[in-house]
Amino acid sequence: MDIVRIQGLVKRYPVPGAGRNGVSASGITVLELSHLSVGPRTELVVAGPSGSGKTTLLNILAGLVRPSEGRVELLGQDLFALPEGRRDAFRARHVGYVFQTFNLIGSLSALDNVLLAMAVAGCVPKRERGRRASGLLEQVGMHHRLRHRPAQLSVGEQQRVAVARALANRPELVLADEPTANLDRRSAGAVLRVLRDAVAAEGATLIMATHDPRIIESAQEVLSLDAPAGAPVQTAPSGTSPAGERAVSPAS
Ligand SMILES: Nc1ncnc2c1ncn2[C@@H]1O[C@H](COP(=O)(O)OP(=O)(O)OP(=O)(O)O)[C@@H](O)[C@H]1O
Ligand SMILES: [Mg+2]
Repeated sequence: MDIVRIQGLVKRYPVPGAGRNGVSASGITVLELSHLSVGPRTELVVAGPSGSGKTTLLNILAGLVRPSEGRVELLGQDLFALPEGRRDAFRARHVGYVFQTFNLIGSLSALDNVLLAMAVAGCVPKRERGRRASGLLEQVGMHHRLRHRPAQLSVGEQQRVAVARALANRPELVLADEPTANLDRRSAGAVLRVLRDAVAAEGATLIMATHDPRIIESAQEVLSLDAPAGAPVQTAPSGTSPAGERAVSPAS
């Protein structure tokens, strides 16, 4: 069964000031994707310039943003047919999200951040949670920092805790938004390895948004989103275009 299946997806946002002074009220289309299927244990990199809709797509896949048109299935479930409360529960069980700015809880230790994610979803039995949380933190190389709070960790370390937390509930799908954007070259390489290894060890599918050419070059599959309509034309630096045979057409 596909982990993700998208059909006829369109996301429009209202134009600020719409309806006044002749500004169109129909909205701006920020994302169009006629079809996308992603299988189990797959890595898909979503590439594209700033504003091309990468974060929007991840937020839609997480059920956090409702599309204007189209159908989004996760594990065969029509995500937006679920009422909001059940969609939140579905996300907690089946989707791990590594946010660009981590969204770790500042007052909690690394270990408690992972444990809280398990408590919210409630799908890992209570007696297993402590061992699983410390095991995941060990897997991302953070076993020596279990009791540190986010402010006491480096940016790369916080990112690794966020990876452990995203995997806490054995999600089938892990989303990562620009997981290396705030890191220097060496830490970026280390975090990427940790993310890929941990996701592979858990048998999950990884969908990662990035404009980092090194990630795009090393990706299994690439979905390239177009520059947003009306954006100034930018010339891509050499080496940023994904290899043709690996590219997944956005087929808009
Ligand atoms: N809540 C919103 N209301 C109106 N427009 C929005 C909203 N959120 C995003 N947009 C618009 O949608 C477009 C896509 O935004 P998105 O954040 O998905 O881009 P991105 O590809 O992730 O960019 P970046 O690489 O800079 O993170 C942008 O042009 C943005 O202005
Ligand atoms: Mg983004």
